[in-house]
Amino acid sequence: MSETPVVRLEKQGPIGVIIVNYPPVNALGPGVSDGIIDCLNQANADPAITAMVLIGDGRSFIAGADIRGFGTGRKRPPLGERTYDVLDRSPKPVVAAIHGYALGGGLENAMACHYRIAVPSAKVGLPEVLIGILPGGGGTQRLPRLVGAEAALDLIVSGRHVPAPEAKALGILDEVLPAGENLRDAAVIFALKMADIRPLPRVRDRTVTAEPALFEAKRKQIARRARNQRAPYACIEAVEAACTLPFDEGLAREQALFAELENADEAKALRYAFFAEREVAKLPDLPTDIQAYDFRKPAVIGAGTMGGGIAMSFADFGYDVKIMDASQDALDRGMARIRSNYATSVKRGSLAQAEMDQRLARIHPVPGYDDIKDADIVVEAVFERMDVKKPIFARLDEVLGPDAFLFSNTSALDMDELASVTRRPDKVAGTHFFSPANVMKLLEVVRPAKASPQTLVTAMAMGRRIGKISAMAGNTDGFVANRSRAPFNSEMVILLEEGCLPEQVDRVMVDFGYPMGPFAVGDLAGLDIGAEGRKRRAAANPNYRKLPIADKLVEMGRYGQKTGAGWYRYETGDRTPHPDPEVAAIIKQVAAEMGVAQKTFTDTDILQRLLFASVNEACRILEEGKAYRASDIDVMWLHGFGFPRYRGGLMFWADGIGVRAVYNQIAAWHQEYGDRWAPSRLLRDLAESGTAFRDAKPAPFA
Ligand code: 3HC
Repeated sequence: MSETPVVRLEKQGPIGVIIVNYPPVNALGPGVSDGIIDCLNQANADPAITAMVLIGDGRSFIAGADIRGFGTGRKRPPLGERTYDVLDRSPKPVVAAIHGYALGGGLENAMACHYRIAVPSAKVGLPEVLIGILPGGGGTQRLPRLVGAEAALDLIVSGRHVPAPEAKALGILDEVLPAGENLRDAAVIFALKMADIRPLPRVRDRTVTAEPALFEAKRKQIARRARNQRAPYACIEAVEAACTLPFDEGLAREQALFAELENADEAKALRYAFFAEREVAKLPDLPTDIQAYDFRKPAVIGAGTMGGGIAMSFADFGYDVKIMDASQDALDRGMARIRSNYATSVKRGSLAQAEMDQRLARIHPVPGYDDIKDADIVVEAVFERMDVKKPIFARLDEVLGPDAFLFSNTSALDMDELASVTRRPDKVAGTHFFSPANVMKLLEVVRPAKASPQTLVTAMAMGRRIGKISAMAGNTDGFVANRSRAPFNSEMVILLEEGCLPEQVDRVMVDFGYPMGPFAVGDLAGLDIGAEGRKRRAAANPNYRKLPIADKLVEMGRYGQKTGAGWYRYETGDRTPHPDPEVAAIIKQVAAEMGVAQKTFTDTDILQRLLFASVNEACRILEEGKAYRASDIDVMWLHGFGFPRYRGGLMFWADGIGVRAVYNQIAAWHQEYGDRWAPSRLLRDLAESGTAFRDAKPAPFA
């Protein structure tokens, strides 16, 4: 059996077409770079060939270096012998013909070619910073020479994908083809036209300069977003080198910076997050041949904040969506809220007015069940109470066609119980959106016992089609994200009883990398919301650990930002939290009443108390088979709770400390604080066997 080579050379008249074939996205996996060099050498040695085209088979040009190869010690050719070097030394012109993606090493190879053309749907970019490194194939030196230092800084420091028309306007591409034109044919014609033109245009021969102030300004601009990170700053340094050093010295500088970054914790965590986000889509216990239902007629029930945000998500991704509410008044208010959310984006400059108008026009408010009876997917997002949701589910079951799927946006209710009021429990699942639903990326898909594989696959796919990262969760109290987070929420209040202040805890968590501290987040969300859940749990469980300080604030009407006071005090019209001596006094008073000994805490104490509590609960979730993988929990923390991405996620971070050390600390706190710190069975087993959290084998999904 002959294997298709990963790179092959075909002749089309006097043009040598070099084709990369490394599915699914033509990453520069084993043999690809060598293959390109071999084909180039052959083509240059062949007197019948006058110019070459470099093109990708399948869905992309080249998506970049093989990320799995980073950090493995894989040997790379030295400077001067890499594809990039061989390409720009080629005595015959090479045309990069781009479709799909030219990212990272893909765009770097294209920039080392003499010409670049693309189809209009192609995207190019240097996203290395998103995996904690910098473009290491000459990208930091060639891109500024092509587009100028300022535009290069923007692209390299953000890592964003640039659509072909913008890339042409910037100067990255020489030509964008008219829609529908065949790329290979057009590239061959282009190459024929350029075959005899000398000297060859080489990006390395250009020069670029910039004022030092540009780089200082960029460092300032990213200071908040990039805190604790090194890669964005290394990107700036490398572009600065392009403006101050000769090309080869700039390349050497790029290499030195790349070497510094590749094996740093930041890059390891970001690589892990990249693969965890792809793994989370896989449902290993379901048959692999199940197709997601290709829904066309979504409807959302409930025009409140969540329902509105969910409808916006559908509209943002091109779906016409109906939004139903019982009263015209509620619908009017809901549509007004949606309009105002879009208008804010237009005001900020992140959405064009014309695009806002199109999105709004896709959202159709309707008052009755009759108006949605042809919907094929319904997401119910009404008030979070079983007695409110049940009659709605029963009614939906009556009016909808027999094949329609019924999803409930709930963060806590038992999905088996809700499914049981319908005659189609196989077509029911939970879809837990995070708030605000049009912004937050996480969609937790909750799996009731009777849901069919197609229902689950469809719910997961629905999330992806509207821009979410879908993650499967078992039907357990709080599901996976909130259940794993709950002990953190309790522990942060218990710390206050022992002598911490909200501002101290918040400072530690912001230093760690959260965009906001957890107490400030509580004030934003509303403290009354958590109080409801605590009441429900305390009623159900006599051993439930009460949080008297939090309860006291709610009793006093301190609900957070909306009442001008919560964990912090707020000045009218301002969202800045100010530490409040009144809160400090309440904390002291409650602690004295409870007779809790007062201590001082280091930053590490605080961080570990909050996060270890959640690690222990995450282990329980895995041992009960409520999640597929530890990395799914990490994805939930990254996209549901703002956990700093460059730390990988809760479990990856805990692996950095070591499973044994985590276990020992939790066991010690078990002695000191009692049952709420009892180590989970899985945690103990992992510690005994020395298995990393991310390699834990959860129980079969239940
Ligand atoms: N290396 C290894 N595997 C890769 C990869 C890469 N660069 N890019 C994608 N893959 C894998 C994914 O893991 C996935 O594998 P799976 O099917 O086993 O889960 C498969 O290819 C398909 O990927 P997606 O599911 O992400 O496919 P999409 O069509 O949704 O997205 C994409 C395509 C936009 C290309 C996206 O995969 C992506 O962003 N890839 C990473 C691009 C990147 O970061 N490139 C730079 C690499 S670093 C570099 O080039 C260094 C250089 O400067 C020296």
